[in-house]
Amino acid sequence: MKQSLGNNTGGFARVQLKNCQRWFLLLLLAAGQASAAGDPKNGAFLFQRCASCHAVGKYASAGYGPQLNGIVGRRAASTKDYKYSEAMKKSGLTWDEKTLAAYLRAPHDVVPGTTMRFWGIKDEQQVADLLSYLKTF
Ligand code: HEC
Repeated sequence: MKQSLGNNTGGFARVQLKNCQRWFLLLLLAAGQASAAGDPKNGAFLFQRCASCHAVGKYASAGYGPQLNGIVGRRAASTKDYKYSEAMKKSGLTWDEKTLAAYLRAPHDVVPGTTMRFWGIKDEQQVADLLSYLKTF
């Protein structure tokens, strides 16, 4: 008796699982669409990793790192209230999305000698999300 009850619930669980899988697929598809654009909300969440050193927004100023307003399209080492490393000053870079993505992936590969101590973000989606958030400033 006990065992047949067990089987029944097992069957029930399998049906539930199938439904779950379908939802999961739909979610994946939806996420795939978001990935092309980058999700600023998730970017805001990810920016917590930068916020100990960087500020954005109307009253942003230099802290441990330079403020990041308008960073997409900004010339490297161009804020006035931050003392950059020689490496950053000499980099001659402009922070377009490609350069930023590479820098966030591996800061020291893009600007050898940069004083930004950051382990890097390897996930392309996370970088896209972050950049779409930063573009709102
Ligand atoms: C531990 C502190 C720290 C963290 C965390 C950090 N940074 Fe930095 N960042 C710095 C410092 C310091 C510099 C200046 C580097 C230099 O002058 O070589 C910098 C420079 C930069 C620059 C170049 C700015 C300019 O004006 O040229 C960008 C872009 C940047 N950081 C983005 C980020 C983002 C995005 C994150 C989070 C994913 C992040 N950083 C996390 C410390 C940090």
